Amino acid sequence: LNFKGCNFERTLVDMKILEKLDDFEIRDDDVFVITYPKSGTVWTQQILSLIYFEGHRNRTEKWDTLDRVPFLEYNIRNVDIENRPSPRLFASHLPYYLAPKSLKNNKAKIIYVYRNPKDVLISFFHFSNLMVRLEASNTLENFMEKFLDGKVVGSLWFDHIRGWYEHKNDFNILFMMYEDMKKDLRSSILKISSFLEKDLSEEEVDAIVRQATFENMKFIPQANYNSILKNEFGTRNNEGAFLRKGAVGDWKHHMTVEQSERFDRIFQEEMKDFPLKFIWDL
Ligand code: A3P
Repeated sequence: LNFKGCNFERTLVDMKILEKLDDFEIRDDDVFVITYPKSGTVWTQQILSLIYFEGHRNRTEKWDTLDRVPFLEYNIRNVDIENRPSPRLFASHLPYYLAPKSLKNNKAKIIYVYRNPKDVLISFFHFSNLMVRLEASNTLENFMEKFLDGKVVGSLWFDHIRGWYEHKNDFNILFMMYEDMKKDLRSSILKISSFLEKDLSEEEVDAIVRQATFENMKFIPQANYNSILKNEFGTRNNEGAFLRKGAVGDWKHHMTVEQSERFDRIFQEEMKDFPLKFIWDL
């Protein structure tokens, strides 16, 4: 596999899983959250998990979101995804061209969450320095080079979002923006549940909102990935967390004016004519 901007040695994707995925049979009621890393995956996994499991958890109360919404290409916990009862929920960072073939023109639903790439960059920088399995960078400058070269898990940000967006008519896909979710979590949850054709009561929506705020998620062991980070992924220090800041515009505290302007120039060049809007600060 050799695609523009793709560097598979760095993606941590198991090639054997990827080959099998190509022919993975999709069901009409499968649901996917697809993101570029650091764009709100865990958050949306939690929302999906609450929409589908809340109130009818049936002995799954202690399940981590990672088990409720397993990753397609990193099946860390060896969930038997083929024989899972419906509706199956999945997360994935795959670019559109590596998605299972039968996901195309299928009824299965995809929620694609995107975030302004300066905040993605900063979140990714911290995360790479935290995770043992990712390559650490001494300086932001150093990481920015890799990010702009696509030499990170998820490959090139520009290709990822453009790819999914430009092929959106091949899929049953809803685009959600991290910053909108941050601005108005309740409406975002309603938008997601309406796309999923899930009728929720006011109380159910309230409960989901409550358990999906950054402040609360940080303390929900099933949702915050703390034990997974410590016990399964491994961290370089004990301070860091998957839920780091959860803010919009944190890039302003980390990027120099020069770095920010350079990023803007590249962004404008790569994303000209791209119709989705971005929010850089709230
Ligand atoms: P920060 O590093 O900027 O804090 P992903 O799950 O795709 O890896 O994305 C991780 C980012 O989403 C982290 O960003 C994390 O804090 C943020 N995040 C997770 N849950 C969130 C929530 N409930 N509200 C806002 N941001 C959240």
